[in-house]
Amino acid sequence: MIDDPVLTRDWHVVARASELAPGDVRASRLLGVDLVVWRGDGGIQVWDDLCVHRGAKVSGGKVKDGCLQCPYHGWTYAASGECVRIPAHPDQKPPPRAHANTHPVRIAYDLVWTCLGEPSGEPPPFPEWADPAYRSIPCGPYAFKALGPRVIENFLDAGHFPFVHAGFLGDPAHAEMDDYEAETTATGVIARDIPIWQPDPDGTGRPAKVLYTYEALRPLTARFTKAQGEQRFSMIDIVTPVDEGHSLAWAIMAMNYAHDVPAQKIVAFQDEVTAQDLPIVESQRPEMLPLDLQAELHLRSDRTAIAYRKWLRQLGLKYGTA
Ligand code: FES
Ligand SMILES: [Fe+2]
Repeated sequence: MIDDPVLTRDWHVVARASELAPGDVRASRLLGVDLVVWRGDGGIQVWDDLCVHRGAKVSGGKVKDGCLQCPYHGWTYAASGECVRIPAHPDQKPPPRAHANTHPVRIAYDLVWTCLGEPSGEPPPFPEWADPAYRSIPCGPYAFKALGPRVIENFLDAGHFPFVHAGFLGDPAHAEMDDYEAETTATGVIARDIPIWQPDPDGTGRPAKVLYTYEALRPLTARFTKAQGEQRFSMIDIVTPVDEGHSLAWAIMAMNYAHDVPAQKIVAFQDEVTAQDLPIVESQRPEMLPLDLQAELHLRSDRTAIAYRKWLRQLGLKYGTA
């Protein structure tokens, strides 16, 4: 397991709840730990993907009578994690040590969250999800061969729009960035009302200057809201630290306008934008985000990134940082 006390006590996403039907069993990976995510009688469970008998992966097994059955010798585990049946010895009560290593589960925004240690709080807020004025549209997860802090810093970075997302979110002829403030608070980072010129910010084909407000809510969760008049487009990006080389970015978009535009079209746009980010983020060296501000060059347009790096340093994040 990747040793990072901050992330060990944080909540991370391992699956989408609506994609786990009763009886489904999936393998997942978090902080270098193989996990099984399954839905049986007791709802969704997240356990270490390991049978205590001979160490086989229980994710290769199946749900039987609401319990999870190991594929190797059929040991059968109830939702509590307790082994309730050993087929080779049906009359013998399984020993108390025959118990899966279970993890706490939260379901929020149709995502399955778990924590590998003692949780220090709850999953981050995304109030738009429950707000009837908004339509929420999930997208991803996007797989990055990069570490979480680089992925989140890219999400918080508006300065790359004119180049990486030319014609989508920016234009090289409008690359200049107005000044803005970024604050490091006790709970994260916030940079309010960053003016950004966009070629087609709301899908009507008209260019406009919009205002982006970025927030880092957790070390590996960030969000923004784009404001144009009364129109709001929000997006939360939740990065799962899979292992030393891989991340998975789960995202939800929420908008209080254009409810008639098919969700598929909006997701396709986001898929394309992410495909533009992917090679850039995967190319960044060092792969670890340098928290020493002398290590890379920073300009005033990088204020959000500076505040994010300072905050990670305050938190003592080890994973993905140098
Ligand atoms: S390893 Fe799972 S039942 Fe033997
Ligand atoms: Fe981008």
